[in-house]
Amino acid sequence: MSKWVRIISLCAILTLILFAAGCGNSKEKTTGSSSGNKSGEKQTFKLAHITPTDHMWHKAAEKFGEELKSRSDGRLELEIYPASQLGTEADMVQQIESGSIDFGLITAAYLSARAPEFAAWFMPYGFTTLEEANEARKSNISKKILSSLEEQGLKGLDYLFAGQRVMIFKDKQVKTPADMNGLKLRVTPSPPMQDFYRSTGAAPEGLPLPEVYAAIQTGVIDGMDMDLDATITNKYYEVAKYGAVTNHMVWPSVVIANQSKFEGMPEEDRKIVTDSLEAAIEFAVTTRSAQEEEFKNELSENGMEIYEISPKEFKKQIDEFDQIYSEKSPLIKEFIKTYRK
Ligand code: BEZ
Repeated sequence: MSKWVRIISLCAILTLILFAAGCGNSKEKTTGSSSGNKSGEKQTFKLAHITPTDHMWHKAAEKFGEELKSRSDGRLELEIYPASQLGTEADMVQQIESGSIDFGLITAAYLSARAPEFAAWFMPYGFTTLEEANEARKSNISKKILSSLEEQGLKGLDYLFAGQRVMIFKDKQVKTPADMNGLKLRVTPSPPMQDFYRSTGAAPEGLPLPEVYAAIQTGVIDGMDMDLDATITNKYYEVAKYGAVTNHMVWPSVVIANQSKFEGMPEEDRKIVTDSLEAAIEFAVTTRSAQEEEFKNELSENGMEIYEISPKEFKKQIDEFDQIYSEKSPLIKEFIKTYRK
């Protein structure tokens, strides 16, 4: 090859490289979830959670997406991965840590096993209504609990509530804690929740949600701790006769993000995210509160016997919880002192 042919070929290659780079830059950038966004850039965030699409947490996630879009004039969007599509809660937290997803709705129950201050939310009979719990979420103590995630590189942005916890029994109408003695009950593997059930004499089994239907159907468990929402969406009324609407514990999920990634976002975008979340959380509490009677009726219509147990029956268990958990941390003690009526 002559010298001139080599020079012309080299120039042609360089021109091609420069042209390709120019094309790349001229495209409007949409950052994926693995890169931090710059001011004014388009971004599609990814959010994952464990509940089916008819659960309030999913509806709140959709509302969050709508708010993000409208408050950013279409610049910020949200892709939602519901129903454990991206794995268990442990998997989702790991994906947030690695930056492959941006947000997770992670149960405070799961977090209470890796950040013990979250146990405060499981003080039995701490809140009578969802609105009360929603007010408590705005307090400094609740924010300090969120901050306890920072030592793990996670940013706890806020709490999102669904209905409170109730007790479902396969074929025994439990009216007092004494009736729970020896019953095998599915209780999510959260230390404070399991401790509460153990103090009644029940034997808690930490089954994951997808295994609960078959377990109660086949008699592997005698009942479960659940919320009314999931009792309906998972059709537990087909396999359990009694629903005690105790509302004995609130059930927050925590909206978490990767701390350094979130804090590296432009201030304008962080504000849009937190304001959009606030709107979604208020929407969820208002909507869910209005559904309480409708959900109880739906379960009755499907053959479940729905009844209440007075909180007074659980006085011994409440006192025991308050004493043991107040000794575990000053923050939990302060939370119990503030909200115990
Ligand atoms: C549960 O594991 O009991 C549960 C998780 C998410 C939503 C509702 C219930």
